[in-house]
Amino acid sequence: MPTHTTPDLAAAAGTTVADSAAIPNVNADTVTPFVRQATPHTYLMCRPDYFTVTYKINPWMDPAIPTDTAKALAQWQSLYDTYIALGHTVELIDQIDGLPDMVYSANGGFVIDNIAYGASFTHAERQAEGPAYMRWFADHGFRVVEPENVNEGEGDFMLVGDTILAGTGFRSASNSHEEVARIYGREVVTLNLVNPNFYHLDTAIAVLNESAGQAPDAATIAYLPSAFDAASRAELERRYPDAILVSEADAAVLGLNSISDGYNVVIAARAVGFEAQLRERGYNPIGVDLSELLLGGGGVKCCTLELRR
Ligand code: ARG
Repeated sequence: MPTHTTPDLAAAAGTTVADSAAIPNVNADTVTPFVRQATPHTYLMCRPDYFTVTYKINPWMDPAIPTDTAKALAQWQSLYDTYIALGHTVELIDQIDGLPDMVYSANGGFVIDNIAYGASFTHAERQAEGPAYMRWFADHGFRVVEPENVNEGEGDFMLVGDTILAGTGFRSASNSHEEVARIYGREVVTLNLVNPNFYHLDTAIAVLNESAGQAPDAATIAYLPSAFDAASRAELERRYPDAILVSEADAAVLGLNSISDGYNVVIAARAVGFEAQLRERGYNPIGVDLSELLLGGGGVKCCTLELRR
C-alpha cells in the first residue's frame, strides 16, 4: 500500500497566498501536517450507453438542452481510467435503455459489510433502477435488503468512520435513516438539505477520509455550509471543526461530488478553489471533466458507488 507524505505545507502556503486569501476557511499556519494514505477501493459504475436528459427532476436538468452521448461516454471513460490508474477496482452494471439516470450509480444502493440496502426512488422516472441494482447486488454475492422507505442510496448516505451521515429534504425520506441505523447497527446523523441545487447529500458533502473514526483529523470532510439548515450546520461544526468549507462557486460545479481514497481526491476539474484547499490539507486532488454528465445534475461521486465487502 503506497504511503504518501504531506507536501511541505510552509512551501505550499508560500505559493498559494492569493488562493488562501480568497478562501476564508484556510489558514495554513494552523494546519497540522497529516500523512495521508491511499487505500484501494472497489466501485460500481454504469457506462452511459443510453445517457440523455428527457425529463427534469432536479434544477440542473433541462430536456430542451441537447446532450451528446458520445461525449458523455468519453468523459465517463476518463473517470473510469483515473480509478484504474489509482489502483482501484471498478465493477460494471449494464445501463438499461430508457433509464438515462442509471449512470448515476451512487443512487443504486448503499453497501457496507457486504449488505446492500436497495434504493427506492422518489421520482417515477427512476423507480425501475431500484430493482435493477438489487438484482446486480444479489448476482454479485451481496446480501440484499429490500428498502421499506424512499431512499436514493449513497447519494444520501455517506460513511465516515463508524458514523453514517444521512441527507433528507429533497430525496431520501427521514424514515430511511432509521432503517439504515437498524440494518447496519451504526450511528446515523440526519442532515437537512435546504437548497434544491444540492438535492443529494453527496452534492453538499465530500468524505475525504472515510476511516477517520471517532477522532477525525483535520479535513475529514468538506462541505458547503449554506446547503444545510441551521441545526445541521451546527451539528457538522461540532463534529468536524476542521472540515474544509468550500465556496459556492466550487459547489456550483458539483466540486464536492468527489471520490477520495484517503489521499487522492478525484474532483470536478473546474473546482479550482477546492483543489487548492485540498492541496493545502495534504490531499492530492485530481480533476476530471464530466461537463456532459453535469447536464443530468451529477458529477464524479454520482457516477460511483462504493462496494464495501
Ligand atoms: N438526474 C439524477 C437525479 O436527479 C442525478 C443524480 C445524481 N446523483 C447523485 N448521487 N447526486 O436523480
